[in-house]
Amino acid sequence: MLKVIFFGDVCGEPGRKTVKKFLPQIIEEQKPDLILANVENLAHGKGVTIKTLEELMRAGITGFTGGNHIFSKRELGEEVFSKYGNILARPANIPETYPGMSGVMIETKKGKVLLGNFLGQVFMEKQFHEPVSSPFAMIENWLASNQMERPIATIIDFHAEATSEKVAFGYFVDGKVSAVLGTHTHIPTADYKVLPGGTAYITDVGMCGAAGTVLGVVKELSLARFTTGAWVPFDIPEEAEQGELSYVIIEIDENTGKASSIQGFHKIVQI
Ligand SMILES: [Fe+2]
Ligand SMILES: [Fe+2]
Repeated sequence: MLKVIFFGDVCGEPGRKTVKKFLPQIIEEQKPDLILANVENLAHGKGVTIKTLEELMRAGITGFTGGNHIFSKRELGEEVFSKYGNILARPANIPETYPGMSGVMIETKKGKVLLGNFLGQVFMEKQFHEPVSSPFAMIENWLASNQMERPIATIIDFHAEATSEKVAFGYFVDGKVSAVLGTHTHIPTADYKVLPGGTAYITDVGMCGAAGTVLGVVKELSLARFTTGAWVPFDIPEEAEQGELSYVIIEIDENTGKASSIQGFHKIVQI
């Protein structure tokens, strides 16, 4: 049995601190074969840098996924992909001109795991210079083109806003992948389950970041946008006393690639 832990969107310093503080205990208790994280918000809430990615690597995380914000620090993002593009999956359905690969093979003691990242199309802010193409239309080709190294399991981070699109995608690929893990909303959902064909599914894993915020953002700034109607730039707290820690633990049969269990966790913790 392949045991995988996946952390939802890790947001800036408070998110990294939360994960780093609690991961040793989780590793000791769960003895996972593979630890993954969504890092689109890793560097101060937007994008990812080599320094911040290496912080999580030192904590034991070996595979990473992106999202609509992964290239928010474009130059730094390109640097990250040139150094760590083999362990960081970028969205598959953005223009090919962006660096990085949408499917990466993460090594485990039990074999290689294919890790992928797709963006949803519904209610997503425009972040790329071309529209995002349909994840439904491209998933079959994507799966076929990533089989050369014979992965023992396939895990997809489906980064999307609309719950319906995520649920529908889960059913669409049920039995073809080991897990579909929703990210992007930063709010964990309680619908983790194994679908009839053996795909572990959750609509959103949630975030790892500062508690007492609006989705990781300083709450006063978010409130100002809603109450004044003015565009107020967002920021995340530099420091926090409490963190939100959101992750799932999945068990996958490495002989069949099918999941047998998934459980979601969401805790408010002192950091
Ligand atoms: Fe995010
Ligand atoms: Fe996102």
